[in-house]
Amino acid sequence: MEFENRDIISIHDFSTKEILHVLDVARDMVPAAQGKEEKNILGSKVMSSLFFEPSTRTRLSFEAAMKRLGGKTVGFSDAKSTSTKKGETLADTIRMAEAYSDCIVIRHFNEGAGRLAAKFSSKPVLNAGDGAGQHPTQTLLDLFTIREEKGAIKGNRVILAGDLKYGRTVHSLAYALAMFGVDMAFISPRGLEMPREFVSLVKEMGVDLYEGRDLAEAVAEGDVLYATRIQKERFPDPQEYKKMASSYRIDNEMLSGGKKGLIVMHPLPRVNEIAAEVDDTPHAVYFRQAFNGVPVRMALLALVLGARR
Ligand code: NCD
Repeated sequence: MEFENRDIISIHDFSTKEILHVLDVARDMVPAAQGKEEKNILGSKVMSSLFFEPSTRTRLSFEAAMKRLGGKTVGFSDAKSTSTKKGETLADTIRMAEAYSDCIVIRHFNEGAGRLAAKFSSKPVLNAGDGAGQHPTQTLLDLFTIREEKGAIKGNRVILAGDLKYGRTVHSLAYALAMFGVDMAFISPRGLEMPREFVSLVKEMGVDLYEGRDLAEAVAEGDVLYATRIQKERFPDPQEYKKMASSYRIDNEMLSGGKKGLIVMHPLPRVNEIAAEVDDTPHAVYFRQAFNGVPVRMALLALVLGARR
């Protein structure tokens, strides 16, 4: 298992053993992530944070992670304020970030941008979301959350609900859960189903998979309900988005049909998918899940920068 200098582009690049190692290191990071302990192991390092697409949690938790480890950050959260606006290519922007820092975190609207960025940088590149493609660091924090909340990853039945077509978090997560032999249900409105390639892949991996539309019915069987936002920005036709916008909503009434220990997760931001009343119930895990982005990203940064093995 070698992490030093490695790019983190897709969850497909990991073995289950490597994933569990990242989650173990992340657990060690929790006290420092909470500010209860000093951990200045990246004191001489700088992280570039290049966000070509909007972000709250991913960008802030990456920056917090770097700073909790004593490192520093440079970057932008709006590409309009950079030379991209003057026509600079992604390749050249990456070359600059490589020159100014020790690792590069990139979020981009084009699928494949993370992999492309890694080609132009000899320093580690961490994909923070590429279009409707992959979001591997989110998947690792999702797995960390399931493991911490439920005691293990395997043995749970996980419902992935919502926009499974354009939602990149569920693309990475479905594959990772299948690696751990987790049975799943994919529940989506018509037209937003999980792409067939992922369905075939997951089935080939031998897990039990149910596909349907009725979330209220599926809830009864689940241990984890992972809800997603309808990805407005990825719809080619705004009219299509309007039709889907309020296609499902999780509230206390719906959850009353679920198991007592059912946890509700969401990568956030939520729009209408989860009623605010759910926040005060023991089912709601999404805010703790968002915090988990810090220890998990601390683990990844420490590993790829060679400060932890
Ligand atoms: C997600 C994303 O950007 O893919 N957000 C996140 O990183 N936590 C989910 C979304 O935007 O709906």
